[in-house]
Amino acid sequence: MPHQPTNPPHILITAGPTYEPIDAVRFIGNRSSGKMGIALAREAAARGFRVTLLMGPAPTPLPVEWTPTSDTGVRALRFRTCADLQALLARHTPEADVLIMAAAVADFRPKVDPAQFNGKFRRTSATLTLSLEPTPDLLAEVASNRRPGQFLVGFALEPRAEVDASAAAKLARKRVDVVVGNPLETMDSEAVEAMVLARDGVVVRTPGLMPKPQFAPWLLDQLEAARTRLAAIEVSG
Ligand code: CTP
Repeated sequence: MPHQPTNPPHILITAGPTYEPIDAVRFIGNRSSGKMGIALAREAAARGFRVTLLMGPAPTPLPVEWTPTSDTGVRALRFRTCADLQALLARHTPEADVLIMAAAVADFRPKVDPAQFNGKFRRTSATLTLSLEPTPDLLAEVASNRRPGQFLVGFALEPRAEVDASAAAKLARKRVDVVVGNPLETMDSEAVEAMVLARDGVVVRTPGLMPKPQFAPWLLDQLEAARTRLAAIEVSG
């Protein structure tokens, strides 16, 4: 992400959970707060990048000036389900130079008759069994349709002992440029620990636990460095 004052790169960031409906009042969700994506959006805008934030149904409020039509600062649009996010990505990835996929997208969603979304399951004495179907891998889909020069970043939240192996597996499987690995054990804490693995094999780690406010600038520095290195490899190769 080298700075280009006249035509700064456009960064698309996804954040927060998805809520997958069971019926009109119930859903399957997860505990993502969206704070990491918001912090990254704020920092990227402060660095002069054009930023679009696709934000899930997290409880964290967005600054009021972040609207779907903001033409300065951060343009923010909301999604609820994996399918909503899929549609927003289809619309907004073509114009993005960088995608930072920090959203905690559900891996499975209830397989129920959509007519049920207008009503609700009633309690009976019988056991209710929900079937879940896998969701599409949105990041892998974007990667398979990427245009040359697009820089794609995924995340991997894993038990500490599995972070490195899992980040490497996700980098290869999803065909992205960088995977940011975080140990599950630091979820909900005031500080984060991360490793950043790039497609050229370079690994950078936070120096121990890093307070959350410092993490977004640190991570953007790592992503800018990786983007510059990978662009140089493409030019020379
Ligand atoms: N992701 C996605 N679409 C999904 C699930 C995840 O784009 N349906 C993205 C996430 O936003 C994240 C990355 O893929 O950037 C890794 O998410 P994760 O749930 O850890 O990966 P999975 O591919 O679902 O693998 P796992 O079997 O480990 O859950």
